[in-house]
Amino acid sequence: MPEKFDVIVIGAGPGGYVCAIRAAQLGLKVACVEKRKTLGGTCLNVGCIPSKALLSSSEKFEEAEHHFSDIGIDVKPKLNLKTMMGFKDDVVEANTKGIEFLFKKNKVTRLEGAAEIVSPGKVKVGKDEYEADSIVIATGSDVISLPGIEIDEKKIVSSTGALALAEVPKSMVVIGGGVIGLELGTVWRRLGAEVTVVEFLDQILPGMDGEVRKESQKIFKKQGIEFKTGMKVTSAKASAKGVDLAMEPASGGVEEKMSVDIVLMAVGRKPYTEGLGLEKLGVEMTERSQIKTDEFFETSVEGIYAIGDVITGPMLAHKAEDEGVILAEMLAGQSGHIDYNLIPGVVYTWPEVANVGKTEEQLKEAGVKYNAGKFPFMANGRARAMNAMDGFVKILACAETDRVLGAHMIGPNVGDLIQEVVSVMEFQGTAEDIARTCHAHPTLTEVVKEAALAVHKRPIHI
Ligand code: NAI
Repeated sequence: MPEKFDVIVIGAGPGGYVCAIRAAQLGLKVACVEKRKTLGGTCLNVGCIPSKALLSSSEKFEEAEHHFSDIGIDVKPKLNLKTMMGFKDDVVEANTKGIEFLFKKNKVTRLEGAAEIVSPGKVKVGKDEYEADSIVIATGSDVISLPGIEIDEKKIVSSTGALALAEVPKSMVVIGGGVIGLELGTVWRRLGAEVTVVEFLDQILPGMDGEVRKESQKIFKKQGIEFKTGMKVTSAKASAKGVDLAMEPASGGVEEKMSVDIVLMAVGRKPYTEGLGLEKLGVEMTERSQIKTDEFFETSVEGIYAIGDVITGPMLAHKAEDEGVILAEMLAGQSGHIDYNLIPGVVYTWPEVANVGKTEEQLKEAGVKYNAGKFPFMANGRARAMNAMDGFVKILACAETDRVLGAHMIGPNVGDLIQEVVSVMEFQGTAEDIARTCHAHPTLTEVVKEAALAVHKRPIHI
């Protein structure tokens, strides 16, 4: 008789492992299948966590190399890339081991191997079969390339290869000015590479607030990244020396050629559902190859659920985690809800970029009347003391009710600052609520307060 579980979760990334732990906390008998040797999925192994380790380390290197002297510290740092990569690997190991510990603590059974759903309620892992009342697909996403361009993870790399280069390339082209391109492009620029970002659209960071997109490109350019916007790469061929690229204006025109050491492909990711047997089961998919689900995360086949990057919505770890928790609670007989308008987005460059809710462009298009309040970090004492004055916070509030509708930030630590606005929005709060809340002085949080005051045209420090 195959072993029977209440829930089998397929995939141990942030969506899957969180779902498994929450379901186990609620008393369900849970197994989680993972084909990688380590838990944590893309995020912990080859995504968020290693990239943040390299972003943090390279930021310190750049500070020491270029900015310590501004504040009276004269040093000449020397890069030891091997040690920096070793530190990143240690961080990854500690995090993935942490999930192993959490599985044991919560009595989640770990099944190693690739899972196939043979029929509703039945999962095959290698030669073994298991049964479950509910099956949760949390298999995440995979990198996409451009037609005719092969990612070899040596010269033409995805984010995975870009996190493990053995030496600093002299030159690098990043295809795609989205989150991955800017974060990893920044890492290698700081460590000494000449980085050019080629972006199909006229501006980087599509989907974000227009003013933030413009300001971020200006700041990254000042830091030394070259931008070729409105350009599409038509071919990239790896040779013994490096990579030969051809590109042309997105709307057609004269071809440009470039030869660089490394090309980073960062044009997006696609849902990963290979080998699950979904076609045979008749699980319905969207035209973008995502698994179709209803509001309870159930697919078109009863008892099979899906969360995270394989379904619609932003491909973000925290979105997958929240879906995992809610689904686990629903499977345990409770109810849950997620407000997709309140999922923050953060780009971990320096300065950081963060956003939540609607952009000005979206509000205009929807015909919503709003007031905008903006405050620059330059006018904040703490930012000055930190020598980190680039950027601003912008808060958008409904013109009639003053409810906060969105916040868009670029500046020091805005990845943390955004959370105040997310919480206020979650409680349906107003700009006045933020403005009337005491913010400690001197902190960067005062910029959020001043932006809220600016919504009503009464900031104090500008
Ligand atoms: P993305 O969707 O953020 O950006 C891809 C960019 O490539 C876009 O700007 C697009 O216009 C451009 N592009 C597409 N085709 C192109 C072409 N032929 N030539 C030039 N440019 C082209 O995708 P990205 O950066 O690969 O990230 C994948 C996913 O991972 C995203 O959903 C992202 O949100 C997520 N992610 C999130 C992070 C975070 O929250 N900090 C970090 C890393 C990834």
